[in-house]
Amino acid sequence: MIIAIDGPSGAGKSTVAKAVARELGFSCLDTGAMYRAVAWRALEDGVALDDAETLGRIARDCEIAFLHESNDPMPKGVTIGGVDVSSAIRTSEIDRAVSPVSAVPAVRAALVKQQQRIGRSGDYVVEGRDIGTVVFPEAPVKVFLTASAEERAHRRVRQNVDRGVGSIDYDEVLADIRRRDDHDSSRAASPLKPAEDAVRLDSTGRFIEDVIEDIVGLAREKD
Ligand code: C5P
Repeated sequence: MIIAIDGPSGAGKSTVAKAVARELGFSCLDTGAMYRAVAWRALEDGVALDDAETLGRIARDCEIAFLHESNDPMPKGVTIGGVDVSSAIRTSEIDRAVSPVSAVPAVRAALVKQQQRIGRSGDYVVEGRDIGTVVFPEAPVKVFLTASAEERAHRRVRQNVDRGVGSIDYDEVLADIRRRDDHDSSRAASPLKPAEDAVRLDSTGRFIEDVIEDIVGLAREKD
C-alpha cells in the first residue's frame, strides 16, 4: 500500500510521513532528498543548472541509495554515487539549486522510475510534490498538506537548527520558500498541485499530532 503525501516545502510532510509510517509499520520514501542529491552532484561537478542533458545523465547514472540502520525502516540518510550527502543536501545553496534541477524532464523521468521501483517493493509513505498525480496515481490514500508560507519558514529555521546544519536567516528562508513554491507550481513538468482525489489538510496553527492522526485514520479506512 502507498500513502502519498504531497505539498509545498516546510508544510510538515517529513515529520508527518515519518510518524504515519511508524504508526502503521510502513517504510518512508523522501523523494525530495533524491532531487536534492542530484542538485548536490551537479554543484560539485560545476554543471550549469540549465544544462538539461548533463543533469539528466546524473539522475540516470549516479546511484542514489538510502542509508538504513539495522532493521529500522526509517532511512538515516542518503548517498549518491556512494557519497553520504545526508547533511550536505540541507543547505540553502541546495535549496536554491534544487528547483531548476527538478524542473528538467529527464531528471524527473529517471527519479520517478526509481521511486516507483522502491515503492512497489513494500508498504510505503511517499512524500514529494507529484506522488499522487504522477508517481503513484493509483495510491489509495493521497494527502495534500499545506501551511502558510510564514509558518513553513519558521519550521524550516527550527528544523535546520535541530539537524545541526547551522542557523539560517528567517527572511532569507521565507523568500526562498516563496520562490520555490512559485517555481514548483508553475513549471511545465509535473507542477506541484493536488491530485483531484487528494484530501487537503492545512497544518497552519494545528498540532502536528492531530494531522498525523487524520492521515492514520484515512489509511485505516482503506485497509
Ligand atoms: O521536499 P523537499 O523540500 O526536500 O524537496 C526539494 C525540492 O525537490 C522541491 O522544492 C522540488 O523542487 C523538488 N521535488 C520535486 N518533486 C518531488 C519532490 C521534490 O520536484 N516529488
